[in-house]
Amino acid sequence: MAKTLAIGGYNDRDQEDLSKTFNPVFVPGPEGVAGLDDAARANVTAVAYKGHKPFGSVQMDLLPNLGLIANYGVGYDAIDVGAADARKIKVTNTPDVLNDDVADIAVGMMLCQGREMMQASAWARSGNWARNGEYRLNRKVTGSTVGILGLGRIGREIANRLAAFKMDIHYYARSEKDTPGWTYHSDPVKLAAAVDFLVVALVGGKDTEKFVSHEVIAAMGPRGVLINISRGTTVDEAALLDALEANKIAGAGLDVFLNEPDIDPRFYQLENVVIQPHQGSGTVETRAAMAQLQRDNVAAFHAGNALLTAVN
Ligand code: 8YV
Repeated sequence: MAKTLAIGGYNDRDQEDLSKTFNPVFVPGPEGVAGLDDAARANVTAVAYKGHKPFGSVQMDLLPNLGLIANYGVGYDAIDVGAADARKIKVTNTPDVLNDDVADIAVGMMLCQGREMMQASAWARSGNWARNGEYRLNRKVTGSTVGILGLGRIGREIANRLAAFKMDIHYYARSEKDTPGWTYHSDPVKLAAAVDFLVVALVGGKDTEKFVSHEVIAAMGPRGVLINISRGTTVDEAALLDALEANKIAGAGLDVFLNEPDIDPRFYQLENVVIQPHQGSGTVETRAAMAQLQRDNVAAFHAGNALLTAVN
């Protein structure tokens, strides 16, 4: 009987690798745990988790011998770590291996937003270029002032890339960090007021809910562009939509939303928003590395070895 339970939407390659390594039971989401019989649930000592649906005490209590939840992703806000702690269940994640891809998407959205690359492409494809001439002038990105909200591993990768775009780099973090002369702000509202582009690279979860508040968004002003590669929860989304619709800020580039993938349809009406379908880490190379790190954690657990990337 399987000791590993793989929960989530794994692609064919990941499923194959999981099967070869652990011969797990697969269920498509956390709601599938209750559908397993008592014996199958009692046998499970490790869960390989993928997805953004909550995995909490209800599921943990259905798995009486669970010792590990190995998350496929750096953000583990879907997992109730407090509930895991209380049951002496370890949690692991997949940090670092996705930093480059997520930072690339952040920079890509800044360029798409400023240079209107989606609209310009549509202009060419529709025949407007041939019929009506040059696409309208848009906005220079290089040399702008940028604020990074959260200077963790991904935030730093974004800042390093933007330094090559000759940007004046400002940041918010809980405490001042060692940087090559970037400007520290202890107040996110003051950071927002000081910059053209505000990039959200915070950790998700309760502590950062609506961190990008109505006040932060208002402080960005009519030239401000919000970029979010963290979690939809970090932004007051209703306030953001209101500001975008009223042109109180210039635009946004968003890879993450509330209620993914059924995002607020108001976003679809907005020309000034670059929408990405939460694909920050979505390259063949990086997803393979994330999957490998998840499996390495599960294998270490089953072998009684130290976990590679424990979060509790
Ligand atoms: C997801 C992510 O894990 O790492 C994270 O925190 O948000 C993503 O990389 C990925 O979408 C798989 O669910």
